[in-house]
Amino acid sequence: LDAVWEKDLREKRELIDHWLEKLLPSLNSVPQVLHEAMRYSVMAGGKRLRPMLALYAYAANDKDPLDIIKPACALEYIHTYSLIHDDLPCMDDDDLRRGKPTVHKKFSEAIAVLAGDALHAYAFELLGTAGESRIVSEVAQAIGTSGMLGGQICDIMAENKAVSLDEIERIHSRKTGALIRVSLRIGAILGGMNEKDLEYLTRYGEKLGLAFQIMDDILDVIGETGVMGKTVGKDNADGKATYPRVAGLKQSEKIARELVDSAKKDIRNMIRPFKVFEMLSDLVISRRS
Ligand code: IPE
Ligand code: IPE
Ligand code: MG
Ligand code: MG
Ligand code: MG
Repeated sequence: LDAVWEKDLREKRELIDHWLEKLLPSLNSVPQVLHEAMRYSVMAGGKRLRPMLALYAYAANDKDPLDIIKPACALEYIHTYSLIHDDLPCMDDDDLRRGKPTVHKKFSEAIAVLAGDALHAYAFELLGTAGESRIVSEVAQAIGTSGMLGGQICDIMAENKAVSLDEIERIHSRKTGALIRVSLRIGAILGGMNEKDLEYLTRYGEKLGLAFQIMDDILDVIGETGVMGKTVGKDNADGKATYPRVAGLKQSEKIARELVDSAKKDIRNMIRPFKVFEMLSDLVISRRS
């Protein structure tokens, strides 16, 4: 990885972490326990991929990422809410997230449900500050029944069932791909990107999002709990519909690589091709956490 990009990534990440912390409701205000749980889950860490994508898409038009830091943080709050709920006993029933006990383990199930709801609601308050109704409805759609939630319910219903490659692709594109895709679009739309480039960036986002979840499935097989910060091997134990289960490990790796190669072509087709997106797509494949 290029040293210049490495520095840029680190700085963006620090900016995001700083604002994520700053924008959260104060621990001194009521309901304290809910604010504590929100902070606990958000600040436990994480790669911050979704706000990162939004900031880069915005910066592509020579703009200052700080302009859209609130909507960018909103994307990470939504993502964190989805993880808190995904880990609940009634969903994937996980005890470890971002290297720490899950919210329902540390606090309680009721607090986990409500902290997730609170992050979800607060995210839309922040998205509204951009004064652009289009981004609010795009995010709502991306995480609704045709997007993330649609994917999540199909993921649950597909447990211990035979699923086809088409079905697993649909599940993964919705449960994870939709939020990644819209994160890029939010940044691009707010940055005033031209329609043609927005279309290519969207296609890139679809492939990147799918590849990201395929890698998540692969890492559940070949990754390490200590590095991942979540319990590996659990998908198999739960009979989850995953790429390795449907296509095998080698084939899954091949599909992910092909998606990334194809995503890079979309970037190169842009009127203004932004190299950083090619680099980010490589990171999705080479990641170990
Ligand atoms: C985990 O997402 C859940 C998926 C959608 C695959 P990330 O791998 O982005 O988790 P964090 O934010 O880095 O913890
Ligand atoms: C989670 O997928 C997708 C969402 C939270 C929307 P997974 O269930 O595979 O994520 P992990 O492996 O628990 O992080
Ligand atoms: Mg899940
Ligand atoms: Mg899970
Ligand atoms: Mg997973």
